[in-house]
Amino acid sequence: MKTLEVIGVTKHFGSITVLKDVSFTVWKGEILGLIGPNGVGKTTLVNLITGAVSYSDGDIRFLGKSIRGFKPHQISRLGVSRTFEVAPPSTQMTSLENVMVGAFFGKRGRQRAARAAGKKAEESLDFMGLAAKKYVPAGSLNVLERRRLEIAIALAMNPKLLLLDEVMAGLNSTELDEAVELVKRVRDAGVTILVVEHVMRAIAKVSDRILVLHHGKKIIEGAPEKVLNDRQVIEAYLGKRHKDVTGRG
Ligand SMILES: Nc1ncnc2c1ncn2[C@@H]1O[C@H](COP(=O)(O)OP(=O)(O)OP(=O)(O)O)[C@@H](O)[C@H]1O
Ligand SMILES: [Mg+2]
Repeated sequence: MKTLEVIGVTKHFGSITVLKDVSFTVWKGEILGLIGPNGVGKTTLVNLITGAVSYSDGDIRFLGKSIRGFKPHQISRLGVSRTFEVAPPSTQMTSLENVMVGAFFGKRGRQRAARAAGKKAEESLDFMGLAAKKYVPAGSLNVLERRRLEIAIALAMNPKLLLLDEVMAGLNSTELDEAVELVKRVRDAGVTILVVEHVMRAIAKVSDRILVLHHGKKIIEGAPEKVLNDRQVIEAYLGKRHKDVTGRG
């Protein structure tokens, strides 16, 4: 089943064409990794999917229906969440308060009473292993806990599709492994995931498939092993870092 379909999407910012005729599908239950050099249009693509930015050509379908022209709150209520957009964690609010904001915003959020939002927020925090940090100001969390909190906020919105834009930046290698496991746990709980990430080791481990953008176009998509060993990808993007990616050079 197709959760998300991006069909021939083109995006211009003034005279600059950022995305050119980009098409891909995110299948239900998969983790799709999206990579590409800085400024290639990854975050822009996330912005198009969530309705934050409009596009000139193409269509985006969520669960079989076009969401082109929908407002961000409409798309979020359909079940598309992203990290950080709706409510970047406020450092002074507690973890629980931060996640409650997500619980209020999401699908069915409008009808959700404060108590129910609190319950949903606690569930999301428990799920992300932050039960002990509920009443702690978000500003006192360490980097990994902070990333977990961002995902907990998005999860409290009951997403069917979760868009993670560089949630693994700044993590050390142990933390990266933990983050990879957490993302997989979220998927195993029934959430389809699109991950934008620069950390190759993490993207290789977490993704079922990887899609590469280069010069605004999709140059390849497929199994991590295939994509990260593709000559065109290595030349276009990975360069010398390829060795670090697979450990085999
Ligand atoms: N609102 C905007 N107005 C004009 N140009 C924009 C806007 N948003 C993004 N751009 C441009 O679009 C291009 C793609 O940016 P985008 O942030 O999507 O790249 P990215 O792949 O996410 O990069 P990074 O890996 O650095 O996060 C860049 O050239 C950027 O300057
Ligand atoms: Mg970006």
